[in-house]
Amino acid sequence: MELVSVLVSSDAFKAAMRRFATGVAIVTTTHEARIHGFTANAFASVSAEPPTVLICVNRNARAHPLISASQRFCVNVLALEQRALAEQFASGEPHTRFDGVAYRLGPSGSPILAGTLAHVDCTLGEELTTGTHTIFLGQVIEAGHREGAPLGYYDRRYRNFGAFDELDEPPGPAR
Ligand SMILES: Cc1cc2nc3c(=O)[nH]c(=O)nc-3n(C[C@H](O)[C@H](O)[C@H](O)COP(=O)(O)O)c2cc1C
Repeated sequence: MELVSVLVSSDAFKAAMRRFATGVAIVTTTHEARIHGFTANAFASVSAEPPTVLICVNRNARAHPLISASQRFCVNVLALEQRALAEQFASGEPHTRFDGVAYRLGPSGSPILAGTLAHVDCTLGEELTTGTHTIFLGQVIEAGHREGAPLGYYDRRYRNFGAFDELDEPPGPAR
């Protein structure tokens, strides 16, 4: 029997993916004298041994050739009170995004932003391009974290995920 595959519509795909709640991060890099960062939520842990993460970057993003060329990036996980940074790094002129933003350079040479909940500083591993985006694998060479509330993102809006109560009791029977 011949297999027929029909791709889902882009609208249905996006609507489904919007139901996946995420945190918000700023991915940073430096290439030659240029410092760059952009807001991202396509970020995941891949492996603990060796420590590896992935980010998905639009091929049209200015960050794309910079990460490819610099071979390094840092993922900075934003705290709830850093919503303004998320907005600042998602639009506008890249050279003004770091105005007033405190950071230090990590061992990869990428900026580690102050006040974040966590960071993973990486050297670039493999790249896999599919459709509009490239998956960049990062080999993590430094990681840090602190306690605090995360900035959330769900259904195209920034969110406060709230009390973060642990669901340690199974829910009762459906009524
Ligand atoms: C919450 C949020 C998450 C985003 N996640 C990503 C992402 O994972 N990958 C990506 O390429 N762009 C993502 N974007 C879009 C970029 O932040 C935006 O296109 C930015 O202007 C790219 O900057 P650049 O072209 O200067 O590199 C996201 C935007 C927002 C608001």
